[in-house]
Amino acid sequence: MIFDVITIFPGFFSSILEHGLLKRALAAGHAQICLHDLRDYADDRHRTVDDRPFGGGPGMVFKPEPLFRAVEALKTASVEGSFPIVLLSPQGRLLKQAVAEGFARQARIILICGRYEGVDERVAENLATDELSIGDYVLSGGELAAAVVMEAVTRLLPGVLGNEESPEQDSFTSSSTTPEGSTALGRQGRHGLLDFPQYTRPTDFRGWRVPEVLLSGNHKAIRQWRHRQALVRTWRKRPEVLLDLPLSSDDRQVLQESQGSTCQPLKA
Ligand code: ADE
Repeated sequence: MIFDVITIFPGFFSSILEHGLLKRALAAGHAQICLHDLRDYADDRHRTVDDRPFGGGPGMVFKPEPLFRAVEALKTASVEGSFPIVLLSPQGRLLKQAVAEGFARQARIILICGRYEGVDERVAENLATDELSIGDYVLSGGELAAAVVMEAVTRLLPGVLGNEESPEQDSFTSSSTTPEGSTALGRQGRHGLLDFPQYTRPTDFRGWRVPEVLLSGNHKAIRQWRHRQALVRTWRKRPEVLLDLPLSSDDRQVLQESQGSTCQPLKA
């Protein structure tokens, strides 16, 4: 997987390239991140990439020409066929796990980091194939958002996570869309539910005990407990997530039982 990132702040990415999952994935050759300074595609000696908005108003807007030039140069240099050209912006569709899973099946993605005052609309309309937001809040540029996308996608690439950290076990993972060759396909994914609670030693911390079932060694009981916890927790914390999920009759029963007790959803 190749990520081409078009940005006015290539230096922004140095810390994520040098730490954790992305560093490991790059070193092992699972992914490649190519940073492209948008100013290299300006056509004046001041390397201008923005200008004042027509119609007035505060701030500056990214000009279309450098962005088109940058993307066209990457397309020309690429041997792959078509690939997503993603404009990061608060107006885009929301990044969800399913979106990351879709990107993880691509050989290459271009990420365009916009800026919050704006990007000339002709970029969204005629250059980008996708406009993507990482949440309903405004950042001052798309760089953080691009980093989030790269992390979310890279950890889904085959071989990046070991069996122990399988993406199948993650909250929100879809049941059938993990990329082929992904690790630990034998394990049961939880079909888009939030994660079950995890505990480690000590078994008793300040009087708060680890649930006995986890200490029992009974793997079937543990699996069942975890699934129920994931269900009830999703209902309590993110009830809207359950609306999209196929629930078995056992699942419905668990939810019904839990609703009479302490498990009201946390928000309306
Ligand atoms: N640029 C500014 N805010 C953003 C957001 N919420 N998501 C993606 N890109 C952005």
